Amino acid sequence: MLSSLHIQEFPYQNGELYAEDVPVRALAEQYGTPLYLYSRSHLRRQYHALVSALRAINPEIFFAVKSNSNLAVIRALADEGAGADVVSGGELFRARRAGVEASRIVFAGVGKTEEEIDYALRENIRFFTVESEPELERISQRAEALGAVGRIAVRVNPDVDPNTHRYTMTGKAENKFGVDVDRAVKAYERADRLPAIEIAGLHMHLGSPIMTPQPYVEALEKVRPLCEELKGRYETFRHLDIGGGMGIPYRPDEQGLNPRDLAMAIFPVLNGLDLAVALEPGRFLTGHAGILVARVQYVKENSLKKFIIVDAGMNDLIRPALYEAHHEIVPVRETGGTLFGDVVGPVCESGDFLAVDRDLPAVEQGDLLAVMGAGAYGFVMSSNYNSRARAAEIMVDGSEVRVVRERETPEDMIRGESIPEWTKR
Ligand code: LLP
Repeated sequence: MLSSLHIQEFPYQNGELYAEDVPVRALAEQYGTPLYLYSRSHLRRQYHALVSALRAINPEIFFAVKSNSNLAVIRALADEGAGADVVSGGELFRARRAGVEASRIVFAGVGKTEEEIDYALRENIRFFTVESEPELERISQRAEALGAVGRIAVRVNPDVDPNTHRYTMTGKAENKFGVDVDRAVKAYERADRLPAIEIAGLHMHLGSPIMTPQPYVEALEKVRPLCEELKGRYETFRHLDIGGGMGIPYRPDEQGLNPRDLAMAIFPVLNGLDLAVALEPGRFLTGHAGILVARVQYVKENSLKKFIIVDAGMNDLIRPALYEAHHEIVPVRETGGTLFGDVVGPVCESGDFLAVDRDLPAVEQGDLLAVMGAGAYGFVMSSNYNSRARAAEIMVDGSEVRVVRERETPEDMIRGESIPEWTKR
């Protein structure tokens, strides 16, 4: 047997994979493949695991909507008490539509446009995390024009190595994110001089996925003296937002970041600071809440290796292609046997793979496979490349099933396109 990750909400019963109480095969047959399946119970369990592990710190949780922005997912977490961390006007719109109070929303990102800033100011969100001094100027100008107040937390770049893939590390000096620690005071002084800005706190985010507490500790040790100074200077300085990035296990031999270990490690560094701590987890909440189900179209062999060709491709789940990310791939009906090779999609690119050179379940044409850990940065990073319609998204809660996003149709894919009248007939 292949060793595998065990996710409680996606168990095997009599050799069949279930999503909570529902056989995955039945869902694939009813709704077609490729199919994203989400477990509401997993979202809730992760949220409460985090809150209870971090009780001593009592952080406010802003769910990083970028990891999975389906309205039903945002709502499921909001129902448990989560706010939202958004990075665009579009995510702000989604969070509001899902019912998240504006006062429970923070807005990050290096390139906020005037329109996005206006929208957030009108909604009166909790605060902006600001990535540069020109952005401070812009928020102040727009807030003045609208008769609003722009609450801000400067994103400080602590220059700490989070040991992640270089594309997902954000808190190093060479990254575009944030303001250097030694320039931060200057940024706050500028913020203080601006007419429509209120200094709400400090923000950092190191990268993801982070597997040990150490990078958080190192970064907090660097920013703590700064926080103390800023707290003394500005009476509205109350928040310390330590970002997201908490790792989950993607491989059977990985542990993920245990929130209890994180709590124990950071508690001493935060102790006595007397700031409201905020956290922006995405993947930790949504990663294992989702699987991607695909059907085997062909099994093909060349002189070198075997390929399992499935109906889900890099347009559905780009993490393997983009980061060489590992996702466990399990059979929807247990097979017993294994075969060595690749799982690839139908897209016309050699980078279109879901697994390379691995022991895989010995599946045949027509069988179903499940890609685990696809709830975070799965559907949200999907595209219509090769004019492939985006998959349907389903949420399961116990034995209840809801379609939370319909499968796209060819008509959906060409919506908004037109052929200029001067085109030759
Ligand atoms: N806060 C900020 C400011 C962020 O930039 C991010 C992620 C998060 C929170 C949430 O990180 P999480 O807890 O989900 O790891 N597409 C990549 C991940 C990109 C993460 C970008 N920022 C992937 O598939 O691994």
